Amino acid sequence: MEFNGAPRLMIVSDLDNTMVDHQDHENKSLLRFDALWEAEYNHDSLLVFSTGRSPHLYFELRSHVPLLTPGIAIMSVGTEIKYGESMVPDHGWEQELNEGWDRDAIVEEATKLNLKFQVESEQRPHKVSFYVEKKSAQEVLATLNERFKARGLNPKLIYSGGVDLDILPQGAGKGQALAYLMRKFKAEGRTPGHTLVCGDSGNDAELFAVADVSGVIVGNAQEELLQWHAEHAGDKSHIFLATERCASGILEAMKHFDLQPYVSPRDHPVALSVNDKQAPKIGAVAAAHEVVEYLLLIEQWLRGDVPNSHQVHNRLKSVLAPDSSLVHAYGIISNPYKEIDSFHSLYGSQNGKTFAIWADRIRTMEISDDSWVVRFDKWQRTGLTFFFLCLFIQAYADTPNGLQWKLIHETWLSGYSGAGSNSSA
Ligand code: GLC
Ligand code: MG
Repeated sequence: MEFNGAPRLMIVSDLDNTMVDHQDHENKSLLRFDALWEAEYNHDSLLVFSTGRSPHLYFELRSHVPLLTPGIAIMSVGTEIKYGESMVPDHGWEQELNEGWDRDAIVEEATKLNLKFQVESEQRPHKVSFYVEKKSAQEVLATLNERFKARGLNPKLIYSGGVDLDILPQGAGKGQALAYLMRKFKAEGRTPGHTLVCGDSGNDAELFAVADVSGVIVGNAQEELLQWHAEHAGDKSHIFLATERCASGILEAMKHFDLQPYVSPRDHPVALSVNDKQAPKIGAVAAAHEVVEYLLLIEQWLRGDVPNSHQVHNRLKSVLAPDSSLVHAYGIISNPYKEIDSFHSLYGSQNGKTFAIWADRIRTMEISDDSWVVRFDKWQRTGLTFFFLCLFIQAYADTPNGLQWKLIHETWLSGYSGAGSNSSA
């Protein structure tokens, strides 16, 4: 996040079966969302992931799925809030959750009932989790509630995905964690212009009840969330039932709520000439567009998804200044304007493969009226490039985004577990 003021848009999204479609092995819908977010929103908006996963399983998911780096990650069903890339924990929130929380007593009662504990990584300071079969869920929940009541305990029980039972402090959960964040933003005078919450299962229900949000229940939602929606009294116009699955359902909701722009750069051909561009943009937005569209066009060229034409090649070449330099991660310096010619022979080399290139963490800094430094992470699925790139770009009228790349400096992204590995789906 480069902005200091209020986010224009805040998207708060669940991960499993909302942002991430486990049936979409190429992650096509997630990549559509990623491209839109990076090109249009990242510079002034806030992406929040709200997941049931512990930090351990969150990173495990990131290692094989092209998830962007969120501004805030809320994990373990709203019991852990982490800020920024270095995941700074919100200790204030954790302290609030201690209120009336007796973890040992909860474990004791569950053990008496012989409940099946989830794996160790998912047992957290303010979350105890079990597997409970759908057919016995109602009975188990009722019995637990009785026993807790008898002991003077009042935890929150959430059943999700027709299999997971989470027991949390009464003040915890995805909804309360979001409400807490909203209070913080308000106190700082940074209330987002619009907040869109996105979910598919039981533990997401609370998100839709937070004040001043609109929400999308994705097309593949679980029965328990649809049932909650059906039973939920009052005005529901702020909740959109998408027909499309997962991230595509989020894009559908952006259109429904008229959150502009909502068309992903992956949903139309990349502009090849200055005449194809609708409205010229300047600065950070133009630079972000350029990065997203350039990487996308390279991906399409390598996959053979665009014609092997002079226009496409020219689009790739014209944004490189004839005297530009590329400092490679391994130290060599070359001229990309000349090198791009050898790119001809790679046309279609990734055809039929699960291949994608995407950008994460695009940041733009204005150097002067007509020049910018852009930094971003470039990820490539199959192959071995996970680069951190820094570009120096300058205004140049005859290109689709009005920019020309002067200097490209790449560095290996190290010690980072991201979705570029060969093992990715
Ligand atoms: C994630 C967590 C699990 C939790 C479930 C539902 O799968 O790993 O512990 O029960 O979400 O919230
Ligand atoms: Mg989910």
